[in-house]
Amino acid sequence: MNVLVLGSGGREHAIAATLAKSPQVEALFVAPGNGGTEGIALVGGAPSKNVALDQMDAAAVGEFAEANGIDLVVIGPEAPLVAGVADALREHGIAVYGPNAPEALLEGSKEHAKRFMGDNDIPTAAYAAFDNADDALAYVREQGAPIVIKADGLAAGKGVVVAETLAMAEDAVRACFDGAFGDAGSTVVIEECMTGPECSMLSFVTGGRSFPMAPSQDHKRAYDGDTGPNTGGMGVYSPVPIVADDEMDAMVAIMDRAAAALPAYRGTLYGGFMLTPCGPKIVEFNVRFGDPETQVVLPRLQSDLAETMMAVAEGRAADTDLSWSDTWAVGVVLASAGYPGDYEKGKVILGIEEAEALPGVTVFHAGTTRNADGELVTAGGRVLNVVALGSTFEQARERAYEACELINFEGKQLRTDIGAKALRGREAWA
Ligand code: AMP
Ligand code: GLY
Repeated sequence: MNVLVLGSGGREHAIAATLAKSPQVEALFVAPGNGGTEGIALVGGAPSKNVALDQMDAAAVGEFAEANGIDLVVIGPEAPLVAGVADALREHGIAVYGPNAPEALLEGSKEHAKRFMGDNDIPTAAYAAFDNADDALAYVREQGAPIVIKADGLAAGKGVVVAETLAMAEDAVRACFDGAFGDAGSTVVIEECMTGPECSMLSFVTGGRSFPMAPSQDHKRAYDGDTGPNTGGMGVYSPVPIVADDEMDAMVAIMDRAAAALPAYRGTLYGGFMLTPCGPKIVEFNVRFGDPETQVVLPRLQSDLAETMMAVAEGRAADTDLSWSDTWAVGVVLASAGYPGDYEKGKVILGIEEAEALPGVTVFHAGTTRNADGELVTAGGRVLNVVALGSTFEQARERAYEACELINFEGKQLRTDIGAKALRGREAWA
């Protein structure tokens, strides 16, 4: 099988590295890829290659796929899915892992997602949607704080404000309608503020059925103790020890209900849950693998990912058979100084080989590239995802942090408390 993965983050490195383990995969391309996705050794063929393709350009991707006998295109990020790249490729008869634009609207429009949840009896925060500032401000004043303000469209994870005060909420509403998020903010969704730990559940969805992966938990704030600005995610672990059995059942049932309402969906559906005192509720659906969740979930997958993705892409639910190792995985993000604000690029990265020599450790690249001298250098805010497997949560954590110490680049920034709250138990969220 010849496979093309679209994307350039840690998620795509983890997807590519897991596909490379399949004896079915004879050729693997990543477009545009990063410093880690070039040259991954394949069990079933020659090493992987990066390709300079624009992931939003369906025509260029389709031409490449036809010219290179690609059997399956795996779309990593949300932007091409929402823009209809999967639809265009399918029209050319190419098998695609990732939903078409109508289904991708679940992530592309928060108002659409809320309506979908209402129609399908999926628990979520109460909400109202507005297309003008005056009505939105009146609603916010009536509801009071805390309250959550969201730009409707895609805003790279930056379009959500959990407002502790009425003034913050009013500012957030004004910012949206003043164009802070461009067109994405021309509709604003205002939600009740939920409480509880968050938990991500990724699921293979095809033929109206959901095949859940192990749960994971992201750490979105930049600094220790869940302080500082929101980021794309600074660390993650899987599974999640604080989830009770009845909560797990409720999350699985919610993903089943969502999948049943999406008969044409072919890809990963990401349920972002909050474990509220009234049970798990959906914070958001994403229409792709999570980043950095994927980096701790896929290393625990024992089934053949290429076979699974092909079965999902072809709507063969019966062939979606998953098995998982009973290890724990902890992933720590090494970021550039200044992230999620401005940061410098081009810093030489050392120590990855030494880190990967530790038992159970894999380093996924998120923002790296090679400079003119062939050195591996930083090229993004989130630079590396250091992932360790262990037979206990504590062991996985210790290994991950030991590996983080061996890797160096100027300005290396990391959280030192990934998984610490979960180790203290559910009371840590009280
Ligand atoms: P989203 O982009 O929708 O995932 O929101 C980003 C983050 O904002 C979530 O991971 C939550 O931490 C927080 N958040 C979003 N919606 C709510 C809500 N209704 N109540 C409390 N926190 C929320
Ligand atoms: N880790 C959050 C996301 O992928 O949206």
